[in-house]
Amino acid sequence: MREDTPSRTAAWVAAARHLGQLLPEDVRLADDPYGAIFTSQWLADVIHQAATVGAREPGDRSLSLANALRAIRHPLTKMPGLRAWILYMQVRTRVIDDALRGFVERHAGRRTQLLVLGAGYDCRALRMPELDDTRVFEIDHPATQGHKKQVFERHGIDTPATFVTWDFEQRPVEDLPEALLELEFDATVPTFTIWEGVTMYLSEPAIDASLRAITEWSAPGSELAMTYFAKSRLAKPSLATRAIQAVVSTLGEPWRWGWKPEELPAYLEERGLELVEDISLADAARALLPPELAAYVGDPDRRVAVAAAAESIAVAHRR
Ligand SMILES: C[S@@+](CC[C@H](N)C(=O)[O-])C[C@H]1O[C@@H](n2cnc3c(N)ncnc32)[C@H](O)[C@@H]1O
Repeated sequence: MREDTPSRTAAWVAAARHLGQLLPEDVRLADDPYGAIFTSQWLADVIHQAATVGAREPGDRSLSLANALRAIRHPLTKMPGLRAWILYMQVRTRVIDDALRGFVERHAGRRTQLLVLGAGYDCRALRMPELDDTRVFEIDHPATQGHKKQVFERHGIDTPATFVTWDFEQRPVEDLPEALLELEFDATVPTFTIWEGVTMYLSEPAIDASLRAITEWSAPGSELAMTYFAKSRLAKPSLATRAIQAVVSTLGEPWRWGWKPEELPAYLEERGLELVEDISLADAARALLPPELAAYVGDPDRRVAVAAAAESIAVAHRR
């Protein structure tokens, strides 16, 4: 990403999460009332307006999203693929939220931590009551995190998350586990790491080093949920994928990395993690949404993997 410029892709995905409020409640998968505040004010106003219109249209599932977008008189809402983008973000958010809820439930009565790597404008610490007893750490670039702090201050929002400022281009990820310990991160406590919307932007050495660092801070019982692209999405992109690829490259955040799903278990195992679940968001959409909406999330190459930490090699145990 560009130095001094908060991540635009982070603002874009957060805004799409907020626009999930356009969906009638019976098919809505995730609510992020904070998603729009990180964009510029005029865009935030349009998104709030859009979400309000959506909320007034209960019931007529497949049409309501289209109708709500049509009712907003702004060029943004005519953007091709916006409906698909909103639904994709709904499914992606819900799959990770559910994995996190499962983790918290499995460790009920014990201390747990959530670490969001490349957190951007993730507001799980604020919007998920299940995390009330979970310590949350958010790691991100100074420009994006600085913007997030300013916006929270402006809106009087007090997040329980601990911010960890880290530019991975300046400071190696290998140093992060040690730095976390200085911030009262407890490497003996089960930690759920979220690595959402990040792997596709990294080089192979950065992926390798990051996974090894995640294993290092993951005590027994810890889990990782990460989104990734199947290699075929980058090798043989569809027309729509090429269009998004061009946009993210222009924003200074080009896609670089994907795995072949069949190669992922061994790749993770070599780095101390055991694959538990690897789900295509197209399949998740079919399980979570009515068919007329699931059809918008058809690309099987956008995936979420959940992995468990193998035996502890956490930093605390090396000390
Ligand atoms: C697509 S956003 C995803 C944000 C968030 N995880 C989500 O899904 O809403 C990618 C994130 O990676 C962060 N990032 C990119 N390059 C970085 C770097 N060199 N150091 C630290 N963070 C970086 C950006 O600031 C941004 O928040």
